[in-house]
Amino acid sequence: MSSNPLLLVIFGISGDLAKRKLMPALYRLIEQAGMPQEFKIIGISRQADYSVDTLFTHINEFLKEPNSYQLDFLKDHTTIVHNGLQTTEDAESLRNTLEQESQQLGSGTQRIYYLSIPPAAFPQLMQLLGDTSHNTPFANEFNAPRLLVEKPFGYDSESAAALIASAHTSFSESQIYRIDHYLAKETAQNILAFRFKNSLFESIWNDRHIADITIVAHEQIDIEGRANFYEQTGALRDIIQSHLIQLLALVMMEEPTELTSPAIHNKKLELLQAIAPANPKYAVRGQYDGYREAVSNPNSSTETFARVALHVDSEQWRNTTIMLETGKALDQKATFVQVTFRAHDADGAKPNILTFELQPNEGISLELQAKQPGLANDTQPVRMEFDYGRSFDTPTAEAYERVIMDAIRGDQTLFASGEEIMAAWRAVDPVLHDWINNGQQGIRLYKKGDHAASVQ
Ligand code: BG6
Repeated sequence: MSSNPLLLVIFGISGDLAKRKLMPALYRLIEQAGMPQEFKIIGISRQADYSVDTLFTHINEFLKEPNSYQLDFLKDHTTIVHNGLQTTEDAESLRNTLEQESQQLGSGTQRIYYLSIPPAAFPQLMQLLGDTSHNTPFANEFNAPRLLVEKPFGYDSESAAALIASAHTSFSESQIYRIDHYLAKETAQNILAFRFKNSLFESIWNDRHIADITIVAHEQIDIEGRANFYEQTGALRDIIQSHLIQLLALVMMEEPTELTSPAIHNKKLELLQAIAPANPKYAVRGQYDGYREAVSNPNSSTETFARVALHVDSEQWRNTTIMLETGKALDQKATFVQVTFRAHDADGAKPNILTFELQPNEGISLELQAKQPGLANDTQPVRMEFDYGRSFDTPTAEAYERVIMDAIRGDQTLFASGEEIMAAWRAVDPVLHDWINNGQQGIRLYKKGDHAASVQ
């Protein structure tokens, strides 16, 4: 449990992510005695009639059998301020409110601003917060306030550069925590531990031994009513540019000198900067049947399925093929990283495959060849499996619980730096621009519930 009081300011309190992910994670932290003893949540809403009661009715939908005492406890600590923050006066008045709250919470309060807002609203907010000194500690606070920011971090590298620059006018990089909740998933964190704590793999972790790295995030859910957001985003930005490229960096980066945040970020960045801009010729996009009706746009060319081939131009990885793939409304939810080793030259030898499974189960498995029992010498693939559920008693923490705890503790390891975001955009920019230029041409339509392989 963190001992310093917490003042959490939520921009976008009525939005999807606050209801679905952030508030339920705060509830679970209370359940597990993981929240600071003293805390206060201030939601900012532009809707004059959005109340704490309305918010908690929504949160309830995303909690499994919540304990009413703990839910009320969270509710009692939550206030909604109706302030659209359009003008300097609005920002000053909010600052006064926060200063009073922070003082009441006590000495050493950590102030965190959670921002789940459209990129277009971001520069103005940064400017207002900076102009009215939200970016520096109040008298009772020990540390500078922090920003906990949700994606999308721009629409391409140009817009992302502008957003990053606008944040830097008022906040330093060390105050900015850009959420990539995939990095906070237990198996994603285990990728580094697995690679660097088991000497078995490190010497063969290169293109002489690894033929292919494939990272997949298939979802069964469709866009679930997020028409506006999704029309402006699409699968390539929503999942590949962010989550999958970050996972790729964990799989392929060199060993950091130590497992600390700056050392890990240095090596991750080196790898991300070595990704060559993707060639649109090897990219595939699809859209599920019914999407255009769901977003009320018969001309929509937004992809709900995307596959991109990448190439890392480095001594270590030049000859390894890389494929990233994601899609919504597919037949099953499956998120995994698959590392395929080169098969031995012997006739009919099958490759060994190492899989990090993130969803629906969490675990790591290795496909090996074993001799079948009996007199013949035939071999067949078998799996060695490590499963979180079976190996550990402790339940795995939900990604957002980790995100909140790390932001409170000031640990930036599992967040994306501005430079990493830029490198990831540069990798996908050519495909994004190609798809924009080609409109609907080349989109493959698939049926809801189809298997990914049918989006050929
Ligand atoms: C979010 C995307 O970042 O990740 C959503 O915006 C997607 O579209 C979600 O559904 C998937 O997260 P998870 O943790 O369920 O795989």
